[in-house]
Amino acid sequence: MKRIKVAVIGLGFFGMRHARLYARHPAAELVAVCDLDPRLRAEAERLTGATAHEGYDAILADPAIDAISICLPDRLHVDAAVAAARAGKTILLEKPMAHSTPAARRIADAVEASGVRLMVGHILRFDPRYVQVHAAAAPERLGEVIHMRAKRHGIRSTAARLGDRSSILFYMGVHDVDAMQWVARSRIARVYAQKRQVLGNGNEDALQAIVNFESGAIGIIDYSWAWPDGLMNGYRATLEVVGTKSATYLDCADQGFYTVTDQVMQGGDTHLWPEVNGRIAGDLADEIDHFVLATRDGAPYLQDWREAFDAIPVLDALARSATTGERTDVAR
Ligand SMILES: NC(=O)c1ccc[n+]([C@@H]2O[C@H](COP(=O)([O-])OP(=O)(O)OC[C@H]3O[C@@H](n4cnc5c(N)ncnc54)[C@H](O)[C@@H]3O)[C@@H](O)[C@H]2O)c1
Repeated sequence: MKRIKVAVIGLGFFGMRHARLYARHPAAELVAVCDLDPRLRAEAERLTGATAHEGYDAILADPAIDAISICLPDRLHVDAAVAAARAGKTILLEKPMAHSTPAARRIADAVEASGVRLMVGHILRFDPRYVQVHAAAAPERLGEVIHMRAKRHGIRSTAARLGDRSSILFYMGVHDVDAMQWVARSRIARVYAQKRQVLGNGNEDALQAIVNFESGAIGIIDYSWAWPDGLMNGYRATLEVVGTKSATYLDCADQGFYTVTDQVMQGGDTHLWPEVNGRIAGDLADEIDHFVLATRDGAPYLQDWREAFDAIPVLDALARSATTGERTDVAR
């Protein structure tokens, strides 16, 4: 079987999972990984057998490496992605594509100038629940979208772990902005947002917004990072779409798996990246599988990176509106 040679940049919560998935993929050979943290480098070498570097220069300079995953903190995506594009690498860039519209534009320019391939890791495009809501919202089934509501609530320890290295919009919000525009088949044109920041985690505790789509549909966005850590599964997400002919919705609060003691009831991940029989399964495994096979075969990626780009000006508008308190047009 023809195999592509891959590397992973950043070995934190997500990069380590990318590395493990490449290492076991029959059509990929994980050649190298890198992280500033020596403990993570040692762990990745132990788990995958790949050569670990401190920085990413050696990876980008290695002509044998075809493709890389960039799993760095959100604000560091831009420099690494631009350098990778200039080095001629095929790129799987974790979401959000970048932390601002000018930064995303720098990546887009570098990708177009060098002609490399880029996929952005919008994992919900691989989630069976979101994919089925997208299919059910096809205009011939749902009619015209009247209104839509997206909610994503997470626990406060995630916000505290990431601090000001991320934001509620980069880490969680981009998932739903991308999903809403994908499912509505229309882009968000205007937003009116409010936020609260009282827990002192270095980022927003909650951000809520009313949005207007180019199609005329209206929507509500409801993000929280303020839930106590006891929240079952660590997150709750819903997406509802109501159209002129039908409606469709999903609810990720119930993952269908529980453990119960006298003191506490807990759930567990059964969809995103669950560990099953010693392997990572679920949406992330499907995303990496798609990236490897489509890269090897020269097939199109499920999502064109330009659609991933389209979420970033919405995040900028939400952040601006939440700061100024003004209704804000999305500047594209
Ligand atoms: N799709 C999803 O559901 C999902 C889930 C989690 C994270 N993510 C995304 O993945 C990315 C990484 O998030 P995370 O939670 O793994 O963050 P993290 O902070 O756990 O990991 C980032 C790693 O990058 C390393 N690093 C920083 N600068 C570096 C440099 N110059 N060279 C090499 N290594 C460097 C850090 O040492 C750290 O280990 C983010 O963009 C995040 O939004 C996506």
